[in-house]
Amino acid sequence: MSEYILEMKNIVKEFPGVKALKGVNLQVRPGTVHTLMGENGAGKSTLMKCLIGIYKATFGEIIFDGKKVNFAGPTQAIKAGISMIHQELSPVPERPVCENLWLGRLPMKNAVMVDHAKMRKSAQELFDRLGLDLDPDEKMGNLTVAKMQMVEIAKAVSYDSKVVIMDEPTSAITESEVEHLFRIIEDLKKKNVAIIYISHKMDEIFRISDDISVYRDGEYIATDRAANLDVNKVITMMVGREMTNIFPKVECPIGETVLKVDHLSSGKAFHDVSFELHKGEILGFAGLVGAGRTEVVETIFGMRQRTGGKVYKDGKELNIRSPKDAIENRIGLLTEDRRGNGIVGLQSVAMNTVLANMSLKRYGFLLNHRKMRSDAEEYVKKLNVKTPTLEQLIMNLSGGNQQKVLVARWLLTDPDILIMDEPTRGIDVGAKAEIHTLISQLAGEGKAIIMISSEMPEVLGMSDRVLVMHEGEMTGILDRKEATDELIMKYATGKVGETA
Ligand SMILES: Nc1ncnc2c1ncn2[C@@H]1O[C@H](COP(=O)(O)OP(=O)(O)OP(=O)(O)O)[C@@H](O)[C@H]1O
Ligand SMILES: [Mg+2]
Repeated sequence: MSEYILEMKNIVKEFPGVKALKGVNLQVRPGTVHTLMGENGAGKSTLMKCLIGIYKATFGEIIFDGKKVNFAGPTQAIKAGISMIHQELSPVPERPVCENLWLGRLPMKNAVMVDHAKMRKSAQELFDRLGLDLDPDEKMGNLTVAKMQMVEIAKAVSYDSKVVIMDEPTSAITESEVEHLFRIIEDLKKKNVAIIYISHKMDEIFRISDDISVYRDGEYIATDRAANLDVNKVITMMVGREMTNIFPKVECPIGETVLKVDHLSSGKAFHDVSFELHKGEILGFAGLVGAGRTEVVETIFGMRQRTGGKVYKDGKELNIRSPKDAIENRIGLLTEDRRGNGIVGLQSVAMNTVLANMSLKRYGFLLNHRKMRSDAEEYVKKLNVKTPTLEQLIMNLSGGNQQKVLVARWLLTDPDILIMDEPTRGIDVGAKAEIHTLISQLAGEGKAIIMISSEMPEVLGMSDRVLVMHEGEMTGILDRKEATDELIMKYATGKVGETA
């Protein structure tokens, strides 16, 4: 018997115009967490899709559980014992949680009738087993992105597979849910299940990995025990050079107030939020996922109804009722849920880049295509978006590169106020630094920036001030000089009284 539950040898995958995998390897031991690392577009997701038969590898060999395999698709892979949590969720929002869970394998009463009772019961049993607080009857669309992700995790675990692939499973979940996931992973390991884990979060990776494989530009670089590696070694392997200065915040003068938010509320989501935002300032929004940060910026941007309070820009009261109003008032919002509100999958990279500018009439009534193209070109270059051409459909880009296109879209609208909700989620270390540099430059040009981030080093590294929220309330605003990890966590967990 082989030491490995899974071996992928010399896998090649070509797409029209792109060689995504150039002969890569992977060897996974049972009962371990094997992490795949590499920059955006390195080929991690593609390798996994070749494994479970979503893509057919152009060349190469896969040996699973001692046998050569070649799955025709995910259903076959699942039957054989490999399940996958995808990087981009694809829930059916109108249907209940339990139905999403058993989608594609609904328990039947007879040939035509779905057994709803059984579906609900087994969902509840699964949630109980995993200790998840989820309601099988809730409409999927009512869940937060984080909860949807937990459903997805439960789903992957429910197949009792020998290998579970997790492609960036923690990109949208709260810290306590991450701990929960890690406990689930420990349990799986005890049952000798192998987990293939993909993430850009270094601290996580070093906590749970047994083995790490690194890929770069579709090539296999190396595999080693996590114990033999450290963050710097891995980064050097990933980018092929040493990286310094991950948070290049440059000091720049803070100017007059541009945005004033006064006792803003929106239904039950949050209430009584007040703050001022200045020219040249980066205001970080910290808090646990679900604290109401996204809801606050959605309300400012006109995506959510304001039920109390006022918003002023340059001293004038605003009455924003839709994102269009906001854009016309030179406010931009990069949303956190890129699939739901962000990318237009069946459009080109170029179109996705210039999209927000359409309503600003930058391209005139009849659309100046040449200008659209040159704008798109400039920003694709600036942000180092990995795409063969500007005409590529955006859904064919890697997750991180899609995110970069969205960042470009908003940078291009030249807003006075730019709100970014988790701007670097799913983005690799190198590109992260590029985006941080750009944000910093924008502030230097006098733009005002709100940055929601759940990553503490990012909040601390980038913000001039940090606004902290806890369960729909603002618990404090900290100055850059006083903000520390511990203090922010105290405010974020509601362990400090009112504003300091
Ligand atoms: N369906 C497709 N058609 C064309 N090109 C594709 C397709 N899927 C992936 N690619 C290309 O293959 C390369 C590898 O992409 P992949 O999604 O595997 O990267 P990744 O390592 O998962 O990156 P990320 O960290 O951003 O998720 C990229 O250049 C991507 O644009
Ligand atoms: Mg990916």
